[in-house]
Amino acid sequence: MKLTSEEQAMLDGAQGSATQKSIEILRALGKIYGAERLIPVTSVQISGVSFSNLGEAGLAWLSEMAAGGGRARVLATLNPAGMDIENWQALGITAEFARDQQRVLDAFARMNVITTASCTPYLIGNTPHFAEHIAWAESSAVCYANSVLGARTNREGGPSALAAALTGRTPEYGYHLDHARQPTVRVFVDADVDENSDYGALGKVIGERLQGSSKVPYIHGIKTATVENLKSFCASVATYGGVALFYMQDITPNAASVSLLKEQFRISLADIQQARDSMIDAQPEEVDFVSLGCPHLTIREIARIAELLDGKRVIKEFWITTARPTKQIADRAGYTAVIEAAGAKFAADTCCVVAPIKGRFKALVTDSAKACYYASSKHAFKTAIKPFDEVVLSAVEPLGSKA
Ligand code: F3S
Repeated sequence: MKLTSEEQAMLDGAQGSATQKSIEILRALGKIYGAERLIPVTSVQISGVSFSNLGEAGLAWLSEMAAGGGRARVLATLNPAGMDIENWQALGITAEFARDQQRVLDAFARMNVITTASCTPYLIGNTPHFAEHIAWAESSAVCYANSVLGARTNREGGPSALAAALTGRTPEYGYHLDHARQPTVRVFVDADVDENSDYGALGKVIGERLQGSSKVPYIHGIKTATVENLKSFCASVATYGGVALFYMQDITPNAASVSLLKEQFRISLADIQQARDSMIDAQPEEVDFVSLGCPHLTIREIARIAELLDGKRVIKEFWITTARPTKQIADRAGYTAVIEAAGAKFAADTCCVVAPIKGRFKALVTDSAKACYYASSKHAFKTAIKPFDEVVLSAVEPLGSKA
């Protein structure tokens, strides 16, 4: 792989050991994937933030990179951490975990990484434009950036994303290149989808059909989709199929002509219903945990939760997961006060998947297909996927009951 003179100097250690290690990581990755060169990136999103995933070994590596002079050269933010950084006690996080999680965040801060911990960086200022080369790690955000924003990123791992931040570069392969971004299969959706959980179920169906194929779907038949629907779809199709790029006719940018594509398949309403049913194994009476915000909630979704909870009483553990800056808007708009008065809890900076809550609950209700997947596989919870409003209402005292 060809390096510029500046990159060669980085490799020779002229800019410190952390930069040197970073270039080594990127060069090794580039060699594996046949990249000819490194290219500049303008935005980075780093995964591997929860101490429950990193452990002491991961923290030691971050500390070493910080001590080795590693400093982010481009805008870099974090994926969710294992706790609400300001309000971890309310979520039942132990003091020991909180201390370790804070050590992780401090290491990132020493490297000038912005410690906003969110899987929706595109909602809070880390927002690339069409055709911008970036290096993001969170699979749902990668899919959203490539497909909805039209930016260009591979799915980075934690170390390669950090290396991109510390050098401002990434190897040029995969979704940075035009040929890898061409649609390869047409998908016709013969059903109306209009709700986050519908989009999650649709993402599961398409993802499972494409799993392991690296195919880029071009999806027909979706009439309208909100930002919230699209982030839900991205999270699901990435989780169930590893899809990092799709096109949706008349909804996402740069949907090139696909009339010559031979491969295609159709999705029916029954397929979507079957996918939805497969994510429900919890009985209503077993539900002891309710969570919204996978991926992290938009301010519009928080406003809707406040509207639905106004004057009601929450009787289940109910987490509202979002990015810290979005919560700050909710604070100012008065939504937080309404939601907390009802008894729901904000879980900013974290989520029901990366928080260390394995085995703590029996059954989760959510509107997220991705959350169903990980709540079951990682935390051993039963799950039920429902439409957004029904999720909120499943956490509250039934009408007419006495306190
Ligand atoms: Fe985000 Fe956690 Fe879901 S990182 S996409 S809320 S699993």
